[in-house]
Amino acid sequence: MDRGQTMTTLFTNRSSFHTWRKSIPEHRTVGFVPTMGALHAGHVSLIEQAKAECDVVVVSIYVNALQFNSETDFTRYPRTEETDFHICTLANVDAVFAPVKSDVFPEDVVELLTPSKNAQGYEGADRPGHFAGVVTVVDRLFNLVQPSVAYFGLKDYQQVAVINDMASQLHPNIIISPCDTMREDDGLAMSSRNRFLTPSGRKSASLLNAALSKAVSLWNDGKCQSQKLIESVADDMSHDSAVEVQYVSIVRNGTMEPVHAVSENDVIIAAIVVDGVRLIDNMSFTNA
Ligand code: PAJ
Repeated sequence: MDRGQTMTTLFTNRSSFHTWRKSIPEHRTVGFVPTMGALHAGHVSLIEQAKAECDVVVVSIYVNALQFNSETDFTRYPRTEETDFHICTLANVDAVFAPVKSDVFPEDVVELLTPSKNAQGYEGADRPGHFAGVVTVVDRLFNLVQPSVAYFGLKDYQQVAVINDMASQLHPNIIISPCDTMREDDGLAMSSRNRFLTPSGRKSASLLNAALSKAVSLWNDGKCQSQKLIESVADDMSHDSAVEVQYVSIVRNGTMEPVHAVSENDVIIAAIVVDGVRLIDNMSFTNA
């Protein structure tokens, strides 16, 4: 594997990308990191994992209107193309694929894929249509990029579950690789949306990680009842009026199935709204 400096090429349309993709010999593994841009260290950690495991790495940057719940949210999503490309260059990405809508969805009317049952509840309930938009775009991107391995962040736990289901049905040859969540120093999960928080909202947001960590240590101390651990998280957050809790739940690892008695590798998931910004996080129960 080439560990030296890589020339990063930017492809802004489907046909130039296709020509490049065809030039890669079949025996070379292609690692793929799909993103919506506004890259941060969380995205870079996925890229680094792809670089470590694959011969060639592709990062896509495409802000997918289909997965947004409102026009305003889509319009205000940060777009930082030049910085993103620079970050990819520094990370030795081989190809940045930044298509426009007609490259991904050439047809006039897009037929949405139906996501699996794992899309129900939680993010799926709070953001109707979101996962249909996600699986539809990821399926298209998989067809265009034809990766050997695709990397997704566990920060978006439910997204990983839903994409796993879609991939095992429609792209059984693509390996889905889940990657750990990158956090700020105070534990807040990195997110492109964090930039919309006010300084005081930013402080409130860090309560989420603290509350989840506390639940995991309570479990380590022998508290196994799911309901009690959920209450502890909700209670910790209720002390800050800037935090609006959307949901807190504990599910079996890799699924969205709620559990009553918590065992190792189960996952506590939560969503809050601060300053009008929706934030999600999760943590798995592991022995301290
Ligand atoms: P985006 O929000 O740009 O995220 C791209 C990838 O980076 C996702 O797999 C996400 O889980 C991961 N990621 C985000 N924050 C992270 C963090 N703090 N630590 C580790 N990984 C992190 O997720 C999407 O885009 C879109 O839904 C997409 C899959 C590209 C489809 O449009």
